[in-house]
Amino acid sequence: MSPDESGILSARPRMTAEIMARTGLDENKLTELVHRFYDKVRADAVLGPIFAARISDWGPHLERMVEFWSSVALMTGRYRGAPMPAHATLPVEWDHFKRWLVLFRETAAETCPPEGAAHVIERAERIARSLYMAVEDARPRTVPSLL
Ligand code: HEM
Repeated sequence: MSPDESGILSARPRMTAEIMARTGLDENKLTELVHRFYDKVRADAVLGPIFAARISDWGPHLERMVEFWSSVALMTGRYRGAPMPAHATLPVEWDHFKRWLVLFRETAAETCPPEGAAHVIERAERIARSLYMAVEDARPRTVPSLL
């Protein structure tokens, strides 16, 4: 993918430009959001250890998360990954997702204009619910005996 004449790196530059104008978001704001958010996550007594158990090199994770948010918030198509399997086996309950969302909402309000914060928060809440359902689905369960 290469930037179009407006300098926007996106599979759909016109749509991305429209979202940027409407929300006040751009790649720089999303990069700041992601970095500040994971600073808080890493310092968090509950979430920090769960991430530390899986991620030793934060550089590639942060890059991937900027691509993810660029794709989700600006429709750039920069992220090509699979979030579901990355979460399915994590030792988490809905309370962990609630804590994740508290930190995310807080960081979005600090780093984005109000329309932009509302835009990313709405998407984070929706994705958190589907990731939680994936975690629940993957949990080993015993099938009740028919006899
Ligand atoms: C309880 C809350 C959460 C925890 C503890 C958590 C933890 C993690 C961990 C440990 C990884 C790295 C997995 C690995 O590389 O082995 C990861 C990756 C990722 N997480 Fe989360 N996460 C949470 C919620 C969310 C939410 C709500 C979103 C989206 C809104 C999200 C999006 C992602 C994405 C896109 C990746 C990268 C997947 C990939 O392409 O490999 N996570 N998460």
